[in-house]
Parts: sequence; structure tokens; C-alpha cells
Amino acid sequence: MTSWTSIEIATGAEAAPTLVFASGETLFAPDALRDRATSLVGSAGFDAKPGRWLDLVGEAGERLIVIAVAGDDNADRWRSAGGHVVDAIRALQLKAARLPAAADLGIGDALDDLLEGVLLHGYRLDQGRRDPVPGQFASTLLIAEEDSGLADRARLRADPVNRARAWVEQPANLLTPAVFADEAEAALAPLGVTVRQLGPAELETLGAGGILAVAAGSENEPRLTIAEWRGAPESESWDAAFVGKGLTFDAGGLNLKPRPGIAKMKFDMGGGAAVLGAIERLALRKAPVNIVAIVPMCENNIDGKSYRPGDVITSLAGLTIDVQDTDAEGRIVLADGVTYAINEYDPAVIVDVATLTGMIMGVLHEDFAGLFTSDDALAASLTEAGAAAHEPLWRLPLVASMDYLVESPVADVSNLGAPGWFGMGTGSPVAGAKFIEKFAKGRRWAHLDIAGTGWASRRSSRCGPGATGFGVALLDRWADLATER
Ligand code: BES
Ligand code: MN
Ligand code: ZN
Repeated sequence: MTSWTSIEIATGAEAAPTLVFASGETLFAPDALRDRATSLVGSAGFDAKPGRWLDLVGEAGERLIVIAVAGDDNADRWRSAGGHVVDAIRALQLKAARLPAAADLGIGDALDDLLEGVLLHGYRLDQGRRDPVPGQFASTLLIAEEDSGLADRARLRADPVNRARAWVEQPANLLTPAVFADEAEAALAPLGVTVRQLGPAELETLGAGGILAVAAGSENEPRLTIAEWRGAPESESWDAAFVGKGLTFDAGGLNLKPRPGIAKMKFDMGGGAAVLGAIERLALRKAPVNIVAIVPMCENNIDGKSYRPGDVITSLAGLTIDVQDTDAEGRIVLADGVTYAINEYDPAVIVDVATLTGMIMGVLHEDFAGLFTSDDALAASLTEAGAAAHEPLWRLPLVASMDYLVESPVADVSNLGAPGWFGMGTGSPVAGAKFIEKFAKGRRWAHLDIAGTGWASRRSSRCGPGATGFGVALLDRWADLATER
């Protein structure tokens, strides 16, 4: 079972070291502590660089920890500060720390962000180690708020993100498609989400030739997992379908990946994890929207039964696909996912989320996900949601004059883009988007390429190195923007 731990947040007033914050000349501390803290900070010659802290013992033996946080020019400063709180708690090996009330600290509503930051930065996958990692132990952050819903609110926002991260970091031998599907069902069904799973026999009957072809080279059976959130039951229709790439491992197939980086390919279900996380957030807050997540889950591996380069396969839509490269598998399973969304749900909007191309990182690095759509209004709402959620998107071209990228001499569509400069560039993110567009049948649709943003090698305001859960917060926010009733 995939599980994770984070810092506990509890209401209480037990004696424990007290946390206060410093930013430049500003001290966020209760009045009773302010003067002493100011003089102690001054005499210690503290250079308040964000992330540093000062561990002080007062005259009566009470402990005060001053944590330096970013200035107000940093848009996500209090979520980042939550990370600094986690660092201090862990470095000082505190079993508990106490946070004064927001009103006393003078941070107002920012407490919500701070607590979310604590839970997001406190996240750690429960790994299968025989011996516990030294210095790793449970810590509790005690909050002095009257409002006991505060901790719950922070968990409601952070848990789906952390669950998505845990799935992404879980190795592919433990998180097979069947396990992923079962865990999604176990997490979402109790929240009132209707979850269905289609296995190989059902996919065969359906004619999901794309998913079946990609899955053919693996012992692990594929699943098509569907999670429906009907928060607006008075309406018959579906506001959106989120389709997520759910490759639990991507070896490349017969076009086997070279050595560097192949171990990272357990992360190739990051889009699927994100759309399921978004559904969890919608369900937890009972959002008044009807949205379905559709996740083709499978493993792209190398075997005598693997699909081959040069094969022509028939997709669920009936369009034939010229498989020029078995490593361009994501678009093939997404094609069936998008078709399933259209056939079964007739959604007003389709958004797919996928770790689709390594090349997106060459331009957008880990900082922006690529956004592809020919619908300007949809581009605007997604970009706005991304900015608000601190999961930024950058739009790249998707125009009719580039249709040639996915033309094939033998089938309706090729899964490999036309070569670019000196034969380079066959892994073009634009070609990936162009391929999926063919299956969206002119509907309102957008594609998010999260190959760069799904995994962080650096720290951000939302997390440390590792899986990011990118997309959960963005899609949750977008659901409100897109469906104002
Ligand atoms: N899952 C990969 C994308 C990927 C590659 C993400 C490297 C992160 C790092 C995807 O299935 C893939 O293999 N894409 C190919 C596409 C190409 C064969 C057209 C790629 O990016 O090289
Ligand atoms: Mn691949
Ligand atoms: Zn892949």
C-alpha cells in the first residue's frame, strides 16, 4: 500500500518551543515576545536569509525559534515559510513545536498557506527500509487557534497533492497498473466518487487497441480507471473530463530507452496521479461541478509480445496509428482515453495531463508545464488557474499548418513527429500535442505536458526534490474558474 507521512498539525497549548518569524526588519511575533525576541535577534547578529533560523533560550528557560522567511515580494512566501518550519523542526529534532495564533503573529489569512506549506514540505514517502532512517521521527506542530477546522482545511488541500506524489515516487514493481487502480478506488470511493476499472477483457471488447498495444509487452495487466465526481447532480451533463497518462513504468518498449534516466520512468503516471488528485480535492470540498477523470494505466516494456516499430494498430476511435517509435506510447494511450471521454461522457471540455516529452524540459525546464490548445479562452482560464495555484503554464503553438508533423504514408496518423533540424527533434512536444488533437475531434480540449514539472530536482515553494503533484492544485482551481454557474 502506498503511504506517506508528514508533520502532524494539532490544536493544543502544551509547552513546546515557540516559532516566530523574521523577514528583514519585520518580526512576526506575539507582542509579549516581541521586545525580547528583537533584542535577542539583534545581539545574535542574525542574518535573516530565508530558511535560516535562530534557536534561543530565554531567561526563564523557554525556547524561542526565530525562522527567517522571504519578503513580501515573494508571491508564495508563506507556503515557502512552511517549508522552513519543517526544516527547523527536523534539524533541531523537535517532537513538537508551537505556533502562536495568526492574529498574534500578525499574519492573518496567510496561516492557511503556512499550514499547507508545512504539510506539503513535511511529505515523505514511506519507503520499504528495514532500518529506520536516522533522525526521522514524527513531529507535531501545535497551533493555538480557536478554529479547529484550520488543520482540517490544510489537510484537505495538501493530502491529495501528497497522495499523488506518493504514487509517483512509488517504484513500478510495487505500483503496477492493477495496484494503482485499486488504490485510486480505495482513496476516492469513500468520498462519494464513483470509480470503475476496465481490465484487459473489457478493453478488448471495447476495442481500446492503443492501450492494449502499449501494454502487450508487460506481465502487468492494463487498467482503464474512471473516477466520476458528480457535485452538481441537478445537471445531466459533464463539465469536463480530465485524462491523465498512467504509465506505471516506461522502458520505451522495443525502442528501449538508453541508460541514463530510465529509473526515473516510474514517474510516468504523474498525469494520472494529478487528475485523480484533482478529483479528490473536488470531492473533499464538495465542489458543485461534474468532472470525470479517465486514466489509462499500463506499463511499456520490452518482451517478445511487445508491439513493434512499424506496426499499424487500430485505436478505440477507429483511427489507425503508424507506430514509428514504441517509446512514444503516452500519446497512444491518451488517444484511447480521450476517445473514451468523448464516447461515454460528451464533456464540455477535455484536459489531458501527461509526462509526454523529454524535450519540453529543454525549453520550459522544471518551471512551466507546456500548454497546447487552439482554444484561446481555455488557454486563458488554464493559465490563470496555473498562476493562482503556483503551477504555471506556458503556451506553445498548436496550429493547423503543422498537421504534417503527424502524417503517415500508411495509416491515419503517425506517433512520431517529422524530423526537425538535421534529423533532430523527433521527440517534439508539439508533435505529441498534434497527435492527441486528432482524437479530440475538434472539441474544446487542451494538453498539458508535465514531463518537466512532474518531478523537481530543486526545492520550490511547494516541495523539496522529488515528485511534485503538479496539476492537482491547478485543475482544482480551474474547475471553479470554468464552471461558474
Ligand atoms: N515518458 C516519456 C517522456 C519523458 C522522457 C519524460 C524523458 C521525462 C524524461 C515519453 O513516453 C517518451 O518516451 N517520449 C519520447 C518521445 C519520442 C520517442 C517521440 C521522448 O521524449 O524522447
Ligand atoms: Mn516513452
Ligand atoms: Zn512515457
